[in-house]
Amino acid sequence: MNTPIYEGKAKQIFAGTEPNTYLIRFKDDATAGNGEKHAVLDNKGVLNAAISNLIYRHLAQNGVPTHLIKVIGETDILVRAAKIIPLEVIVRNVAAGSFSKKYGVAEGSELKSRVVEFSLKDDSLGDPMLSPSHILALGIAAEEEIFDVTVQALKINELLTELFAKAGIRLIDFKVEFGKTDDGNIILCDEISPDSCRLWDINTNEKMDKDRFRRDLGNVMDYYAEVLRRLQAAI
Ligand code: TMP
Repeated sequence: MNTPIYEGKAKQIFAGTEPNTYLIRFKDDATAGNGEKHAVLDNKGVLNAAISNLIYRHLAQNGVPTHLIKVIGETDILVRAAKIIPLEVIVRNVAAGSFSKKYGVAEGSELKSRVVEFSLKDDSLGDPMLSPSHILALGIAAEEEIFDVTVQALKINELLTELFAKAGIRLIDFKVEFGKTDDGNIILCDEISPDSCRLWDINTNEKMDKDRFRRDLGNVMDYYAEVLRRLQAAI
């Protein structure tokens, strides 16, 4: 249990206590710019685990299949084993971040329709953007699987846009990852937290997410704690 099977930038993965499971531990480390910027943010693991677990429970209650089996401790969860599909699936409601930069659209501009975007999960290549035909050509996922993850991502967007709105927060965009279980089902994996979403205060548009770390806006953990407090009150 003390040696992780895998250690990522923000999480460690250990063998699970039951067959076909893993234990995931949320770390305090924060990275940005493909690992160029690094910091240890006190309590980030606890806050992100609490936020992600609350969101995962909400999604599961609303019919989204996820890897979460049970919460084990403040930073630890037991999850179903799944082979991660190496895609970052990004949904955008409002222009921000790389979308604003790439297409020359001011941050905060409403989009005429939602965007679903895929990137290859490969830090050494800088997570390049993929179209569905790239995904097929590279053998990353089959057509039905691309359809499945797109439908799931859009459903997650609807559920989370509503949940965050109740918490006084605008869901600007987010990234999710999916995995395939032994029986061939595609389930939501990884975390959903202020590390993987853009969250703006509904009244002031103040940033409450990892952009505070990426852009040196300060008080990062105070805002994560506020996101958790508001979600707990909203649910
Ligand atoms: P982007 O605008 O930088 O492409 O990011 C879009 C969303 O995806 C944003 O909410 C942050 C999230 N994201 C991650 O969680 N991990 C990543 O590696 C990247 C690039 C983005």
